[in-house]
Amino acid sequence: MEVKQVLHMNGGLVATSYANNSLLQRKVISMTKPITDEAITELYISMNAPKDLCMAELGCSSGPNTMAVATELVKTVRELCRALGQQPPEFRIHLNDLNGNDFNSILRDHLPKFQLELRDERSRGGRVSPCFVSAVPGSFYGRLFASNTLHFIHSSYSLMWLSKIPKEVELLNKDNIYMASASPRQVIHAYYNQFRNDFSTFLRCRSEEVVSGTGRMVLTVLGRRSEDARSKECCYIWELLALALKQMVAEGVIEEEKLHSFNIPQYTPSPTEVKEEVEKEGSFGINHLETSEISWAAWGKGFHAAAAAEPDGNNVSGCMRSVAEPLLSERFGESVMDQIFDKYSKILCDRLAKGEEPKFVNVTVSMTRK
Ligand SMILES: C[S@@+](CC[C@H](N)C(=O)[O-])C[C@H]1O[C@@H](n2cnc3c(N)ncnc32)[C@H](O)[C@@H]1O
Repeated sequence: MEVKQVLHMNGGLVATSYANNSLLQRKVISMTKPITDEAITELYISMNAPKDLCMAELGCSSGPNTMAVATELVKTVRELCRALGQQPPEFRIHLNDLNGNDFNSILRDHLPKFQLELRDERSRGGRVSPCFVSAVPGSFYGRLFASNTLHFIHSSYSLMWLSKIPKEVELLNKDNIYMASASPRQVIHAYYNQFRNDFSTFLRCRSEEVVSGTGRMVLTVLGRRSEDARSKECCYIWELLALALKQMVAEGVIEEEKLHSFNIPQYTPSPTEVKEEVEKEGSFGINHLETSEISWAAWGKGFHAAAAAEPDGNNVSGCMRSVAEPLLSERFGESVMDQIFDKYSKILCDRLAKGEEPKFVNVTVSMTRK
């Protein structure tokens, strides 16, 4: 089964939905806002009072984060137009994700909020212009848009997902579900090669679509600082899920065979690995390449207070469920999902109670099409 047929975040607005469990990802978008704002500002100025501006959000999912950067783009450009005494451009905004994404919730719940927020600007006397939004289902590891039509691409926490699990990983990574300290060397190589193939395909496709000379792209992926792909900073979250799954095998609830060939289709690259692929593909010049980190505690409830909040294993497990449940449920069946995530919550609560303070590392790259 190809990843694109199975992978999607939990849809709707239910308790286990991505919409209700993606505060950490929202904070990452806020943390990288200065880089995004700079790219948008430089783009607009280099375009010399454009009549239209076209943006794509890749891996947009469905929830409050879906339109966060599109909203910023429209506001920032309108603000610039006000300051420069120019007529704002018409905006075209494309929202992309895999076919299984809950696009209905975007159109029904999130798009109206976006439209309302931008309409409010009109009542505050802001200069306004039309904004056309469309949904574009499909994999970003293929062409999605017409040649030379996009001015700005944004993507956050999406490009670490691979297009497939390499055969060697399925055969050799038996006791792990991701790269782990105990994974054979061939497994690490296979994951890395898949990342290189996928990321270079992504860059090649976008190079056709982004306007030459001016178009910008800001990508943030879950990554690592270390050059060791088995480093705890990127693997620990999945190692703890593997523990929960192994407990289920020991209890006879899930079959060992099914666990042995189950692997997470992700690769969390280092900044050096990202840089190497961008330079090798050659169509984009790097303006910024940065790492940042965010504590697992940021999965707490409040937007502002959570950075200092106590890490809560239940919140971490809730977020991971909203991301990984479709993959797990396809392999092990829907009926065992509550049990898996109860065990995972207990393991996480236990580790965090012992004073561990795990963090995720984000790698952000801002580029211009040559
Ligand atoms: C963790 S969510 C991030 C959503 C949102 N960008 C955010 O920051 O909250 C990752 C999204 O990437 C999407 N995705 C993964 N692989 C993809 C691909 N090949 N093409 C398009 N979308 C993909 C997933 O379906 C999922 O909705």
